[in-house]
Amino acid sequence: MRGHTDNILCSTMIRRLLKALAVLDILVAIVLNLYIRNYPLIKSGCSWNPEASVKLAAFGDPQIPGLPPFIKGWYVKHLDVLGNDKYLKSIASAIRKHLKPDYVAVMGDLLSSQWIDDYEFSDRYRRYSKIFPKDEPGEIFNVSGNHDIGYHGDFTQNRIERFQVCYGELNFVAYQSPEYRIVVINSMSLDGPPDDDEWRKETVDFLDSIKDYQGSSILLNHIPQFKPNGICMDDAKFEFYDFEGHQALRSQNHMTSKSTNLILTAVFGGSDKEGLILAGHDHEGCECSYDLNKHSQIWELNPKNTGRVKEVTVRSMMGDYGGNTGLVSGLRSADGEIRWEYSLCRFHVQHIWWVTQVTTYLTLAVPFLYIF
Ligand SMILES: *[C@@H]1O[C@H](CO)[C@@H](O)[C@H](O)[C@H]1NC(C)=O
Repeated sequence: MRGHTDNILCSTMIRRLLKALAVLDILVAIVLNLYIRNYPLIKSGCSWNPEASVKLAAFGDPQIPGLPPFIKGWYVKHLDVLGNDKYLKSIASAIRKHLKPDYVAVMGDLLSSQWIDDYEFSDRYRRYSKIFPKDEPGEIFNVSGNHDIGYHGDFTQNRIERFQVCYGELNFVAYQSPEYRIVVINSMSLDGPPDDDEWRKETVDFLDSIKDYQGSSILLNHIPQFKPNGICMDDAKFEFYDFEGHQALRSQNHMTSKSTNLILTAVFGGSDKEGLILAGHDHEGCECSYDLNKHSQIWELNPKNTGRVKEVTVRSMMGDYGGNTGLVSGLRSADGEIRWEYSLCRFHVQHIWWVTQVTTYLTLAVPFLYIF
């Protein structure tokens, strides 16, 4: 009968071990869930300057993906896409609920590809609206990116219109008071050659109409401004389509210096106050600054990074980059001017989020240990 007693002993031990693991799992799940919902309250870099009177949260390139047709029906990949949405949503919601920004800027490349059909485009819009719902704090400004409407050589009436219908205007003044304003532009439309020039004219006319503003400006645009190589991760690069001798812009990492001048003069040239550019596109993120050279009337990168107009390329919120949010605090100084301060709030790569989900779902299995 020895074997039998051993068996009973053994199964009691396994049962005890499982119960201990279950308790551990429950504890880990509770701690992780509390953490991912409340990390902005704990992590450094995740708060406004206490004196801030303007608060803007910026999310870099979410690039929400979809399923290529040949993968539809692969459940693992479906789970991956669903998990990615939830990961982005948990970051955006934690930031908006705890930090209560006045404004939320999504820095372009809301979607992962400009080459999707209208059906897929509206499905991504539905998913995007769940990640950035209207009923959480902060008005949402959507910046157009090359993966949303294409580079200039990819623009079509349909790509532009479907973006406008779902995400709003391409060029607009999102907020303006005598003190400060927030300007959004479609920076893909300025360099070329384009396939069709009408959208360049639209942006140039818009820029022309917003000159002569005396307050401080924040510019939201997708593509970073012109700069020498080696300053940020992405160096200057332009690629072109060649349609039987007719060229069209296929991709660009920076704006050309000509377009940078056009933009900076229109947005920041009317005043001598501090300005801020937020960009996306370079997923690693970067910070630099510009000054107007009074002699040449050309905007130049300030080598000591103490220029009047600061450019922050917001590090991407995608899982591989750690789920970041850029926090801009606007500080009123004694002379009534506004200064802009930036801090990067990093979450974690997607794995910690997945561990949280797995431990949470495992707790659902715990009652079975006690029933059987
Ligand atoms: C940005 O897009 C969201 C859709 O998800 C929309 O609710 C919001 O109104 C858009 N913002 C603007 C300024 O149009």
